[in-house]
Amino acid sequence: MKGIILAGGSGTRLRPLTGVVSKQILPVYNKPMIYYPLSVLMLAGIRDILVISSPAHLDMFRDLLGDGSRLGIRLEYAEQKEPNGIAEAFVIGADHIGDDNVALILGDNVFHGHGFSELLRTAAARLDGCALFGYPVNDPWRYGVAELDADRRLTALTEKPTEPVSNIAVTGLYMYSNDVVRMAQELVPSDRGELEITDLNKAYLAQGRAHLAELGRGFVWLDMGTHDSLLEAGHYVQILEQRQGIRIGCVEETAFRMGYISAEQCRRLGAEQSSTEYGSYLVSLVEGDGVYEARARRTAPAG
Ligand code: TTP
Repeated sequence: MKGIILAGGSGTRLRPLTGVVSKQILPVYNKPMIYYPLSVLMLAGIRDILVISSPAHLDMFRDLLGDGSRLGIRLEYAEQKEPNGIAEAFVIGADHIGDDNVALILGDNVFHGHGFSELLRTAAARLDGCALFGYPVNDPWRYGVAELDADRRLTALTEKPTEPVSNIAVTGLYMYSNDVVRMAQELVPSDRGELEITDLNKAYLAQGRAHLAELGRGFVWLDMGTHDSLLEAGHYVQILEQRQGIRIGCVEETAFRMGYISAEQCRRLGAEQSSTEYGSYLVSLVEGDGVYEARARRTAPAG
C-alpha cells in the first residue's frame, strides 16, 4: 500500500502563525506537526509516501524530511497548486499510487492509542473499496459525520451537517482500493469548486464498498486547525510524554520499532540530536532495556 500526506491548504484559521510558514510544519510540543501523521502511515506498514503541499511550502518539507532514507522509507513530493479539495490528492498522486492501494492522511491530524498499528494493518489487509475511521466528538457539525445502523454499519455520510444524526466524525485518515484514482478523476467539484472527500466516500458507499472502523475509548484523535486545538494537542503530547516516558509521533522510533532501520541507525539519529531529550530518548531506546537485553541474550554463551 502507498501513502499520501496532504499538507497543503490555506491555514486561514491559524493566522498569523501561518503567514509565512506551513501549518503542518508548526511545532506540536517538541516536533513538527507532520511527524505525527507520518508516523501513523509508517505504523500502518507503509514505506512509500508522497507528501503534497502548496508550491510555496513544499521545499520546507523536502528540507525537513529529505528522501526518507534516514528513516528506512521512501518520500516523494508533489505540489497542489491551489487548495482544490482533499480528494484532489488522488489526482495529483496518480503516478505515485500506480497499481497499489493507498492510504491518505491529513497533515494536521494526530492519532494515538493502544494497538493502533495492528488496527491499521488489519484494515489495510481487509480493504475492499474504502476504509474510514470514525471518532466520537462533541462538535460533529464541524466534520463529515457518519450514520450507522443498529449493527454499527455505515449507512450515510454528511459533510458538516447543521443537524448531525450522530456524533461520529470521519477522521482525516482514509484507505482506498486502487480505483480511487479513477473515482477521484470522475468526481464533480462541489459548489466551492473543490473535490470533496465526503463526495468520494459517498460514491464508494453507493457501491456498498465503504466501511467505517470506530476508534473507541482507547484512542485519541485531534486535529489542529485552530490556535486552541493546536495548543491542546501540544499539551496532550507533553503530558503523555512526560508522565509515561514514551514518545508520540517520534518518526525515528517508529522506524526502529517497525524494523525499517537498525538499532545502530536509531542510535546514530539520536546522537545527532544529543543535546535534546528527544535525542537522548532515541539513544536510550537502543542502549536501554529491550534491545540491549535481547542482544546480550543472543551473544551469551550456550549452557
Ligand atoms: P482544512 O482544515 O479544512 O483547511 P486548511 O488547512 O486550509 O485550514 P483553514 O480552514 O484554517 O483555512 O484542511 C484539512 C487538512 O487538509 C489540512 O491539513 C490542509 C489539508 N488540505 C489540503 O492540503 N488541500 C486542500 O485542498 C484542502 C481542502 C485541505
